[in-house]
This record gives sequence, C-alpha cells and structure tokens, in this order.
Amino acid sequence: MSNPTMEDAIDGLRQRREESVFPGKPGSIEKQHAKGKLTARERIELLMDEGTFVELGRLRRAPRATEDGSDKRPFGDGVVTGIGKIDGRQVCVYAQDATVLGGSVGQTHAKKLVDLYKLAWKIGCPVVGLNDSGGARIQDGVGALASYSMLGNVKCEMSGVVPMIGLIMGTCAGGAVYSPATGDFTFMVNGTSHMFLTGPEVVREVTGQETTMEELGGAEINAITGNAHYVDDTDEESLESCKRLLSFLASNNVGKPPRFAAPSFSWDLTDADMELDGIVPVESNKAYDVIEVIERIADDGDFFEIHSRWAANVVIGFLRVNGHSVGVIANQPSVNAGTMNIDATEKAARFIRTCDAFNVPILTLVDVPGYLPGIEQERAGAIRRGSKLFYAYAEARVPSITVTLRKSYGGAYATMGSKQSLNDVNLAWPQAEIAVMGAPAAVKILHGRELLKMIQDGATDVEEKYNELVAEYTRDHLNPYPVAERGWVDRVIKPHETRLELARSLDLLETRRHDPPARPHGNIPL
Ligand code: HXC
Repeated sequence: MSNPTMEDAIDGLRQRREESVFPGKPGSIEKQHAKGKLTARERIELLMDEGTFVELGRLRRAPRATEDGSDKRPFGDGVVTGIGKIDGRQVCVYAQDATVLGGSVGQTHAKKLVDLYKLAWKIGCPVVGLNDSGGARIQDGVGALASYSMLGNVKCEMSGVVPMIGLIMGTCAGGAVYSPATGDFTFMVNGTSHMFLTGPEVVREVTGQETTMEELGGAEINAITGNAHYVDDTDEESLESCKRLLSFLASNNVGKPPRFAAPSFSWDLTDADMELDGIVPVESNKAYDVIEVIERIADDGDFFEIHSRWAANVVIGFLRVNGHSVGVIANQPSVNAGTMNIDATEKAARFIRTCDAFNVPILTLVDVPGYLPGIEQERAGAIRRGSKLFYAYAEARVPSITVTLRKSYGGAYATMGSKQSLNDVNLAWPQAEIAVMGAPAAVKILHGRELLKMIQDGATDVEEKYNELVAEYTRDHLNPYPVAERGWVDRVIKPHETRLELARSLDLLETRRHDPPARPHGNIPL
C-alpha cells in the first residue's frame, strides 16, 4: 500500500470538514423545516451578531466506533456549541441538533455542554441554550442519565453567577426538563415546543388518561403553570425575545446591566407623566390595569413582561428608566383585586432573586388589599410558601425603590418592599393607604360592640357615629403621612412626578454597595 499523498490528506480533511458541517441524515433538514422549526445552525445564525460566532468542538465525537466496525459516530454529537456576541456582548450558546440522533443527549454531547458552561463561568458571560432534543440517548444507557446528572450539577453550581436562558424549540421530555428548569429563564414556541416529564403514551399506560403533547406540555400550559417565562409564535420571534431579555441583564453577578442611551427620555414632564394622575382611581376598591402605570414610567413605554399567564395578580418584568435597567414587581388590581396568594408570592420572590443575582435594581409598585384568606391557601402551605417573598426582599442587595400607589394593607405591606426590607427609596402617592386593614373592617373590629349597643338602645345617630369613626381611622391611618412621619415613606409625591423621581433615585443608587452576605446561602423556605 502506497503512502497517502498530500492530496489524499487534503481530500480527507475536506471530507471530514463537510461531514462535520452537516452530520445528520439526508432529508432531516427538510423534515425540521416542514415542522415549522429552524435547524440548530440557522437558529444560532439568527441569534448571534453577524460573523461573531466561533464554534467549539465541531469535530468532537463519541469515543468509540459502532460494533460493526463502520464509523457512524456523528461529528459534534448532536449539539452545536460555541461563543459569539449578541448586541456586542459576549454570550456562550448551544443548539441541540434534532437532525442528528434526534438531538439526544449522549456523553460527548453532555461534555460539550459542560465545557461550554465552564467557559461561560470563567469569562463571566451568559449561556443561551437552544433545546430541541429527544432526551437521554437511549443507546448510551446509564451514561446518558449520568450526563444529565453532570449537567444539572454544573448548572446548579453556576446558578446566580451567569444568566442561563433556555429556549425550548422542540421536545424537552423526561429528566431533560430539569436542564431549563435549573436555569434562570425558559422561553417556548407555540405549537412546536413541548416540555413534560412523561409523554402521552406513558400517561396512558400508567393512568389510563388520554392526552396529547400539547395538553401535557405545550407552550400555553407551561406558561400557565409558570414553567415558561415567555412564549412566542415562531423560532425567529423567540430568538428576538431572548436578545431583548439579555439587554436588561448584567453578564454576570459582578457586572452591571448595560445602560442604553435614552434619546426619548426627558427631564421635563411629559403628557404620559400627566396621564398618571388619572389612572389609579381614588376609590380604593376600584380596579385598573397597573401595566398602564408601568408603561408610562418606562423609556419609550417599553415593558418586557414575563410570566404574564401565571399568577396574573402580580405583574413582573423589565423596563428602563433613563436607560437604567429595572425589574418591576407590581400588584395587579385588575386581577382578583391584586390580592396576593401563594403563586403570586412565589412568582415575585423568584423574580427578585433573579434581579438580585444579575444586578438589576428592583422597583415595587404597591396596591394590595392583603393576602387571600381561606382554607385552600392555608392547606396549600401559604405560610411556608408565602414567606419566600419576605425572604427574597430581605436578601436582595440591589437598589430597591418602592412606590405605594394606593393600598398597602396587612401582611402584604411587610412583604412588598417596605422600608424595613433593606429598601433604599420609599415613595407614596397622596392617596396611599398604608395600614393594617381598610376602614370598614377596622371600625367593625375596634368599635363593633359599641355600635351594636347603640343599635340595641335605639340610638338614631348610629350611621353618623359610624361615619365619624371611619373618618377618624382614615385621618390617622389611611394616608401616607403617618408613615412618612416615622420615616418609612421618604417622600409623598404626585403621580406625575413618579418617572422623574425614579430616574433621579436610580442615578443616585448607581454606586450602592452590593455586599454579598458572608454565608454561602441562607435557608430560604423552599
Ligand atoms: C436516541 C433518539 C432519541 C433518543 C430520538 N432519537 N430520540 N435516539 N435516543 N432519546 C432518534 C430517532 O431514533 C431517530 O433516529 C431520530 O432521532 C429522529 O427521531 P424521530 O422519532 O424520527 O423524530 P420525530 O418524529 O421528530 O420525534 C421526535 C421525538 C421522538 C418526539 C423527540 O423521537 C421521541 O419521542 N423520542 C424519545 C423521547 C424520550 O422519551 N426520551 C427519553 C426521555 S427520558 P433515525 O436514525 O431514525 O433518524 C430522559 C431521562 C433524563 O430524558 C434523565 C435525567 C436525569
């Protein structure tokens, strides 16, 4: 046998390169497109700034050949990994390649991901994972399961160090779901992405229930349960949403979110500012949409709401004020009167911890009649689960600004960014009512016996007395001034002053010290 020539060697390299670009089966790209999905490489191309993506490990393969001696091990092992830029900022990205072994996770696939996460950790940049996978690679047996375990561990270790965003763009089943779930944000695509622990066939076998992929784990159902933070209609839209989200976050736990120029920001009062005076009804039991308030505070009225389908009685999301990134938590009076319940506290608590991890200042807009009472909430663990919100505010070290728009009653006062929870700036609108409860309930408890006796004695001025007591309680408690006297409200401001007050406060708090506690972590009631 003659020695290989230089040309043979170059041919070999060329072939190797071509195989590595598309290691999948013929026709599988068309199959992917026919489902309305993009391929892994197309997704990366759309996500990253043009020409910045550097692929890592394209030639990596499983360690040994197939048993029949032929070498069918695909290059890349079903996942494209690398680093590039999004809006000029460094980001590590992986895209599972459903055209190669169904994007299933074997050991090499998992090691590529772990290496990518470790790289992101070293250089301090976010990781975006584009998930489209058949889950644990069946032929890898326990090796595939161990791979998930390894992946889960590295993600948990990195949690709070760099943002981890998972876009579900196909199937994400079984234990694989814990990969997005251990990250910070999960995005899904309507109709083409599914995320569930057990698929319809297993459900039928075990429980006898007939169901579908969509019913079990479609984007909508995952949005309602809070598993998914954001849902789009196409891959392209989901990639754009991911870029939008990244723009609000610091790249890691020690950096700051980028501050964008805000040409439309004005230090003069605007029409939108003046409209704030008329949005919140003075009557404390009248509903309104708090998003109307948020949009008037935000630069360009741009509010990126997440988790909108889950626990809609509290609104969370990102906005900018004079270019500063801000995470807002706002009671929503148009849903169950804005009453807090278990889901709302968990939703808000998790968001506060996410903002705190990636240095996004917190803005709390308070208008809450209290916590939802009742057997159902108590039995579902309202005490244990509700305390997460208390804990999250107490641990947060980012700038915290609270504005009480109207009601702040009972336990909800203590858990919604009160001055006592390491809050920096506490503002209140003139109609703010910060008290243990509203006037009718308070008068009934404090003076019920006295009023009842008046009725029994046939007094004619009972109503007059009642109104007097309500007026007295309102004067003493249902306004922001007694709270301001104690120093727990820093300033009472007119609604139209809110945006500029926030802009000033965010400027002042930019140098707020961010001392992490010395302990590794507290014992949050999970
Ligand atoms: C190996 C797999 C695979 C897997 C798909 N493929 N899933 N190979 N391991 N898990 C291969 C198929 O054999 C096929 O190979 C190719 O990928 C495309 O698959 P299709 O079924 O033809 O594609 P499609 O119709 O689009 O369906 C995609 C799918 C389906 C819905 C993902 O393949 C599926 O249900 N796969 C199994 C899902 C699952 O139950 N996974 C295990 C979850 S448990 P060829 O050669 O024919 O092209 C789990 C445990 C984790 O993940 C534990 C962590 C602790």
